[in-house]
Amino acid sequence: MANAITVEHGDWKTYQHECERVRLMVFVAEQKVPRELEMDEHDAEAEHFVAFDSRRMVEGCARMLPDGHIGRVAVLRPFRGRGVGTAVMKAVIARAKEKGLASVYLGAQVHAVPFYEKLGFAAEGEPFTEAGIPHRHMRLTF
Ligand SMILES: CC(C)(COP(=O)(O)OP(=O)(O)OC[C@H]1O[C@@H](n2cnc3c(N)ncnc32)[C@H](O)[C@@H]1OP(=O)(O)O)[C@@H](O)C(=O)NCCC(=O)NCCS
Repeated sequence: MANAITVEHGDWKTYQHECERVRLMVFVAEQKVPRELEMDEHDAEAEHFVAFDSRRMVEGCARMLPDGHIGRVAVLRPFRGRGVGTAVMKAVIARAKEKGLASVYLGAQVHAVPFYEKLGFAAEGEPFTEAGIPHRHMRLTF
């Protein structure tokens, strides 16, 4: 049975440690994104989302900027394919609705486009490259 996942959200000061742990493992170590690009000035203004398991082990994270720009969606490799990413994204979407945003958007790594489509996002515009990785713009309108 899948572990029960709880997704919490708050500011960078509250969740910096948890988010950095996931993002350093996934984006910097695994995907070779330079560390200085990975942690940026937007972290201070973003809301951060962290998935914990029942023993309070961190499994995944995401962030959302005030304008609904979602980013840094990541699940630690051993926990992928069990719905953790979906749980994080559902928490982000619920929070965006609660804040009264009309839509949310993100730059999806091309391999993850089907993951976001399952959550209702639609690709728009031309593909682009960021940190050497091909991406698509995607949006979910409420
Ligand atoms: C993308 C990512 C966040 C998905 O998290 P996850 O916890 O594995 O996703 P879930 O288990 O909730 O998957 C939900 C659905 O999306 C699908 N899916 C997940 N990752 C996918 C991928 N990379 N490609 C295609 N489909 C994917 C799953 O098959 C699942 O479908 P199902 O419900 O029909 O079985 C995770 O794979 C990850 O951290 N990858 C590395 C970092 C990354 O690329 N982040 C995205 C940046 S834009």
